[in-house]
Amino acid sequence: MAHCPSPADVQSSLISLCQVGSFAYNVWKNIGIGGSVMKRLAWLTDIHLNFLQMPSCVEFLDHVSRQNVDAVLISGDIAEGRTLDTYLGLIDRRLTCPVYFVLGNHDFYYSSVAATRSQVRSLSNLSERLYWLTDGVTVPLNETTALLGHDGWADGRIGGYFNSTVLMTDYLIIDELARADSLTRYRKLNELGDECAAYLSENLPPAFDQFEHVILLLHVPPFKEACWYEGHISGEEFLPHFTCQAAGDTLMEIMSQYPSRQLTVLCGHSHGRGQAQIRDNLLVKTGSAVYGAPSIQEIITI
Ligand SMILES: [Fe+2]
Ligand SMILES: [Fe+2]
Repeated sequence: MAHCPSPADVQSSLISLCQVGSFAYNVWKNIGIGGSVMKRLAWLTDIHLNFLQMPSCVEFLDHVSRQNVDAVLISGDIAEGRTLDTYLGLIDRRLTCPVYFVLGNHDFYYSSVAATRSQVRSLSNLSERLYWLTDGVTVPLNETTALLGHDGWADGRIGGYFNSTVLMTDYLIIDELARADSLTRYRKLNELGDECAAYLSENLPPAFDQFEHVILLLHVPPFKEACWYEGHISGEEFLPHFTCQAAGDTLMEIMSQYPSRQLTVLCGHSHGRGQAQIRDNLLVKTGSAVYGAPSIQEIITI
């Protein structure tokens, strides 16, 4: 790596501003006073490493490592709940830059949202390389751009939830959603989407008070227009399970209040590549994915 700031450097210049509810903390770095400035980022999404044999998994991570980037961003669906810690450990060992990530629905399989988040919080706190963004960490990348992220969830509100025959695996093997009737599950999906919206309301305005541009990692597309699959926008049957209206509504409200600021959302989940310019200052990029063939979505220069 020609330019790879150590996580310790990044962390050492962070100033804790406040405690936020159950979230750990909000942190800001005084860029320019001995701080690291990031220029090149590799964005990955829906890499589903559990679909690979271990040698292929290592080969992919080493390929990412050779990209000469300052940080790696992952917008969820890294593996599956039972083995998520194994794959996060592998990422920690094979990559040589800070890795900022959120979780996707697959990351909670065969477990619960609460238990998985608790496990990932511990793992992230112990690691010098892994940063789970959902805990409320705002990461200054350079003088003008900051990074935020939240796992998010498809909240059922867009499209025809109650007429949809789509039964996500989530609804069978994630504890909070399993064994629930349709209405109970809908309310839980709403709640999970609302959590993401609350995170955005709490963290995005303060970020825009200091930074011109925010990159936001979400797993689930926050708008119908960003829910790409095979070159098209997903239909009414799939939209409830692949979009988060609560997050989208909140982003629209915040971006109307900050017309001179720019937001770039990086998401996945629908596995179809596309982008949607929702407002002049709000761009959503959705990543493509094929099980068993992870890829780098983009090398982003900031
Ligand atoms: Fe996925
Ligand atoms: Fe997903």
